Amino acid sequence: MTANRPQPRKGVLQIDAYVPGKSSAPGVAKVFKLSSNETPLGPSPNAIAAFKAAAAELERYPDGQASLLRNALARRYGLDASRIVCGSGSDELLGLLARGYLGPGDEAIYTEHGFLVYRIAILTNGATPVVAPERDLKTDVDAILERVTPRTRVVFIANPNNPTGTYIPIEDVRRLRAGLRDDILLVLDAAYAEYVSRNDYEAGLELVATTTNTVMTRTFSKIHGLAALRVGWAYCPANVADVLNRIRGPFNLSAPAIASGAAAIDDIEHMERAKRHNDEWLPWVVRELTNLGFDVTPSVTNFVLFHFKENGSKNATAADEYLKSQGIILRKVGAYGFPNALRMTIGSEDDNKRAIAALAQFLKGAA
Ligand SMILES: Cc1ncc(COP(=O)(O)O)c(C=O)c1O
Repeated sequence: MTANRPQPRKGVLQIDAYVPGKSSAPGVAKVFKLSSNETPLGPSPNAIAAFKAAAAELERYPDGQASLLRNALARRYGLDASRIVCGSGSDELLGLLARGYLGPGDEAIYTEHGFLVYRIAILTNGATPVVAPERDLKTDVDAILERVTPRTRVVFIANPNNPTGTYIPIEDVRRLRAGLRDDILLVLDAAYAEYVSRNDYEAGLELVATTTNTVMTRTFSKIHGLAALRVGWAYCPANVADVLNRIRGPFNLSAPAIASGAAAIDDIEHMERAKRHNDEWLPWVVRELTNLGFDVTPSVTNFVLFHFKENGSKNATAADEYLKSQGIILRKVGAYGFPNALRMTIGSEDDNKRAIAALAQFLKGAA
């Protein structure tokens, strides 16, 4: 009798709903959550103060243009504020880009282990997802270009990518842009850009500024510690900003989100502290995981993907169960095509040490 009830558009039932990183473990009072790439430093105190101040005017609609936030971003990065569009997390912006540029019969390309939200956004709009293989767990520009057809309308890449933590140099991104037709929108998702310290990396601002067909998305959920508030932004060519502004909700960011985001972007010192923390602990975690015998994918972000060598009792699922029993929550990444790997966010010193000690216990046979 399914024909008698409303049917979603074609493609929707092919979507596997996004499963977020877990935040609790059964029977464990205190958890150490290293599953969603959140910052252990929390947000800037100025962002918290701005959030509290916004509570005094909750009866008012927010500024539908999010001008305070767009102007703060424009000042900070030297951008044209009229080309910044803010969203309720960068997830919303990725969905709006798909809605604006994709429909039935269109194709959109993303990479083999790319962020899962792209597939959801593509299918939601009735378009066809096309997956380009990666090389050494990195975006492979040639593989993407080989998959372009006359139907291709959008290419999504995360640079750096989640869950691999790998990146490609800006020269490769430029080569990708140059190899795509002018009517194909290239979306550069730079959610982890602030963490990268490589002199051949750029998030793509210049490319956006000098083309009509490249967009960069960013988030306040990671280094700025505002994941709960849902704040993201996109830097766009004027023609793309125009499309997003036509189709977004008129008040898509709440007033507390706008105020806290603007305060966060102005607190450069806080962001630098978070970066320094990561610069200290990422190499430590990588070293410890390597010493424990894991294959660790080189990461430029605030998380690491590590691979279990055997499929017997000491596999990723068993490790995840054991860690959960100790209150330590990492991210299973089977849905990303890594059934025998885990992803660990760089946490506080205590979080990191606990996670490594628990993994050592697990390997010794505690499970
Ligand atoms: C690559 C990538 N893009 C985008 C996002 C979405 O971030 P948000 O919607 O919180 O801004 C994430 C979050 O995990 C991510 O890893």
